[in-house]
Amino acid sequence: MEFKGRDIISIKDFSREEIDFVLKIAQAMEPVAAEGSDMLRGKILATLFFEPSTRTRLSFEAAMHKLGGSTIGFAEAEIASVKKGENIADTVRTVENYADVIAMRHPLEGAARLAAEFARVPIINGGSGAEEHPTQALLDLYTIMREKGKIDGLKIALVGDLRYGRTVHSLAYALSLYDIELYLVSPGSLKMRREVLRVIKEKIPVSERTNLEGIVSLVDVLYMTRIQKERFPDPAEYAKVRGSYKVDLNILREAKKDLIILHPLPRVDEIAAEVDNSSHARYFKQVWNGIVVRMALLALILDAVR
Ligand code: NCD
Repeated sequence: MEFKGRDIISIKDFSREEIDFVLKIAQAMEPVAAEGSDMLRGKILATLFFEPSTRTRLSFEAAMHKLGGSTIGFAEAEIASVKKGENIADTVRTVENYADVIAMRHPLEGAARLAAEFARVPIINGGSGAEEHPTQALLDLYTIMREKGKIDGLKIALVGDLRYGRTVHSLAYALSLYDIELYLVSPGSLKMRREVLRVIKEKIPVSERTNLEGIVSLVDVLYMTRIQKERFPDPAEYAKVRGSYKVDLNILREAKKDLIILHPLPRVDEIAAEVDNSSHARYFKQVWNGIVVRMALLALILDAVR
């Protein structure tokens, strides 16, 4: 398995063996994350974020620091030369002179792939429009693995904006490599992208619903997502679907005792605050897991572990 120098653009580029390997390295990073190390001393990560982010950018940076490396970058395209009209190709051909690896988030689908074609250093996709978010999928899988001890055999529901949500696209592709049953719950106008559905349906049983009722009692993992307001071409369409699903303690009365609830965050109103202290909530644990998974990826790509 070769990770050295590799771009992380789409989760579709991963085999199940490769995903399992990354999850194994991530687990080995748990003590390293607690104590720090100098595995990547002298290495620089550039974070180029053309779209808002809290977790993805900060956890990439924290991961790099915990491995002894350093970080540079911008979190606001407004202050970078993009504002002057610089294109992605020129931006990455500049930044590759400063950094050993680049993590990038961009509003356009295909942006990370394009950047990788021009860059000599590896590109990690931190979110490409509504398309994909591969590192989030890896940390989602890691969370399921850690909390459930396995992924095979589980019943998993992805709930919310399955059309514009990039995390659920990457996660659905990744889950289709395992022996699971998938429930897709969304408003009719926000169904899972057909191109994703076509691929995953050939591998695992998938059922689409519009109602959350009846699903909560069935599943082992409930993956909630935010309706992606900023991606709607028409605000009136958003108004029709906002607040479609809300998980609260009442709806959880029918849940399996060991149901876990995940969310890539940020949440708006999909999960009531009262759920945070329940035995089901794992979305803040997921945030921690993002660090160890990104540590694993950085260490593998920069050849500090094999
Ligand atoms: C998500 C994203 O940016 O796609 N956040 C994240 O990276 N954890 C989810 C979202 O914005 O709803």
